[in-house]
Amino acid sequence: MALKISVIGTGYLGATHAACMSSLGLEVVGVDLDSAKIERLKGGRVPFYEPGLEELLQEQLATGRLTFSDNFDAISDADVHFICVGTPQVKDGLAADMSYVDGAIEAIAMRIKPGSLVVGKSTVPVGSAARLRDRLRTLNPEVDLAWNPEFLREGFAVHDTLHPNRLVVGVASNEAEDILRAVYAKNIAEEVPWVVADLPTSELVKVAANSFLATKISFINAMAEICEAAGGDVTVLAKAIGYDPRIGSRFLQAGIGFGGGCLPKDIRAFMARSQELGADQALEFLREIDSINMRARSRVIDLVRRELGENLAGKKVAVLGAAFKPDSDDVRDSPALDIAVQIHAAGASVEIFDPKAMENAKLRFPTLAFAQSIDECLAQADIVLHLTEWQVFREINPTVAATLVNNPIIIDGRNALDRELWQMAGWKVRALGRAS
Ligand code: UDX
Repeated sequence: MALKISVIGTGYLGATHAACMSSLGLEVVGVDLDSAKIERLKGGRVPFYEPGLEELLQEQLATGRLTFSDNFDAISDADVHFICVGTPQVKDGLAADMSYVDGAIEAIAMRIKPGSLVVGKSTVPVGSAARLRDRLRTLNPEVDLAWNPEFLREGFAVHDTLHPNRLVVGVASNEAEDILRAVYAKNIAEEVPWVVADLPTSELVKVAANSFLATKISFINAMAEICEAAGGDVTVLAKAIGYDPRIGSRFLQAGIGFGGGCLPKDIRAFMARSQELGADQALEFLREIDSINMRARSRVIDLVRRELGENLAGKKVAVLGAAFKPDSDDVRDSPALDIAVQIHAAGASVEIFDPKAMENAKLRFPTLAFAQSIDECLAQADIVLHLTEWQVFREINPTVAATLVNNPIIIDGRNALDRELWQMAGWKVRALGRAS
């Protein structure tokens, strides 16, 4: 008999997981407390921008295998329950807020049938899985809990879920592994590496991977600072070191650094947890990774001041990009928006354009000004900041753009524009980590 799974929490991770598991042939019910979100998903609409997901959702709803409900009773006949709720940074510290995960366990514990398996996918502080397993089995002794971290990237969420580069399962029993092997049978048949771990190791894999990625980005941004001081070019340096296969060229794009709903909060929560474990010295370096990352944002503001003078009052600054990265409408901890807000606070008149993230950006910062188009954003600008490397920004014709602005000066915060092309069109191009 085909397995039936439930997905608890239908945000980024859950909505993607539900649609993808259905496309692997499983019967899936997605549940969420947010009725409005559930109604949208039932209607085949994804509440955020993720390439390919809406099409997949509609296709899977049509098969009848995929359903959604705001009533948690809908999960009671499922065999496997995936916890996909968020673990944001707490408001008053660095740690992760576990209230949604704890709430999900309480909500499902008495509803699930004997022999079923609860599988955590959320990113949690190490030790949570063992604690939650105890709690679950106190409430319902005949069920088990495993951990199965998710590594999907926004913008590639469907691809990463259907074709992961590894599947990591943290289990406390052989039965739990067998059930997970049945869930992921198709991926296993495609020879996706299958890593079995104990519960704490599986939780650590996720935060270790994100800490490594954050470190790689901050490393190259530190090199950018040195290049600026020494008159070097970080883009050439990154290319040259990237040819060494031990280093690799990916995640060496210097610029305004990392943001989003994962990397920043995950490294902070990891530091907070290491302190609780009495092992904080081991992660001291992450504090520096975080500082280098935040400094990249201030360095753009310094560059703006260097070009326009200390007093930014009355200057128009055009900001291209609001999302934390291209192909996403996510503005959580977005370096682009953070810079826009700081420049606005310094007295400049800031106008922002982003192809997908304008609505989310407006909700978060209603006092900022948003343009309807790239041209409107550039009009009469004293300086242009390229802060999210969308393809449409790379397609801007710099000759035409030069006729729209007051001053043809652009800061490429992502080192993604064709510098020579812009210079030939009369622009002064500044970038992080490259001599002007
Ligand atoms: C990340 C992890 O990659 C993913 O495995 C995990 O599951 C969730 O967190 P995501 O947040 O979608 O995914 O974004 P990612 O592509 O990792 O980029 C994170 C940030 O780093 C973005 O702001 C991006 O602009 C920035 N970045 C990335 C750089 O500044 N330079 C780079 O070279 C790469």
